[in-house]
Amino acid sequence: MIRFEQVVKTYPGGYRAVDNVSFTIQQGEMIFIAGHSGAGKTTILKLIAGIIQPTSGKIWVNNSCLNDLNRDQLGFLRQHIGFIFQDHKILYDRTTLENVLLPLYITGYDKDVALKRANLAISKVGLEGKENVDPISLSGGEQQRLCIARAMVHQPGILIADEPSANLDRSYALDIMELFESFHKAGTTVIISAHDESLMADYGRRIIRFKEGRFAA
Ligand SMILES: Nc1ncnc2c1ncn2[C@@H]1O[C@H](COP(=O)(O)OP(=O)(O)O)[C@@H](O)[C@H]1O
Ligand SMILES: [Mg+2]
Repeated sequence: MIRFEQVVKTYPGGYRAVDNVSFTIQQGEMIFIAGHSGAGKTTILKLIAGIIQPTSGKIWVNNSCLNDLNRDQLGFLRQHIGFIFQDHKILYDRTTLENVLLPLYITGYDKDVALKRANLAISKVGLEGKENVDPISLSGGEQQRLCIARAMVHQPGILIADEPSANLDRSYALDIMELFESFHKAGTTVIISAHDESLMADYGRRIIRFKEGRFAA
């Protein structure tokens, strides 16, 4: 379960990107975070993942209050959260496989176990045969799949995707949504942001809408 209690995030300069927001996301839920560009979606997602800290208010993830965790505890929690960044963060001087392996090497996995896990993640997103190519030669949809494989390689309980379909044609976007559905069906909590609600409407999931850092009607 994820819970925000009166969370405020003020960036340097004083702008309140998240303004006194409270909500709960149930374990295993699939949910959308909607709102215009600048509404605070990325800030909300980074707060959930412990990538940034709130200015005030409390954030609970899996029974831990993030405010109370030390660096090591926060690092451990992050292994249980897969994050797909809005700006990809693909390493273009590494192959597809190396990109997916990296999070496992960073957390000290044995090489053989890491290889097995990375190959499983790559096959789950349908990128078999592309393991050794440079990511630059992948299509936009394939690059997004690479990001999903990298986020899922730890088999996290929570998957966060920040505008995963923003730069994709509708048919590719629907393919990606189907992948998210399959993770959700397997028990993963899936949180997806978008500024365009047209894709969300078809899925009948809860939508939290933001406007200028607050809930929108
Ligand atoms: N690191 C930062 N420093 C200062 N302001 C920021 C920073 N990140 C985001 N903001 C501001 O916070 C607001 C919300 O940003 P963001 O969470 O990225 O919105 P969204 O993802 O909905 O487009 C915007 O006005 C943005 O300019
Ligand atoms: Mg954003």
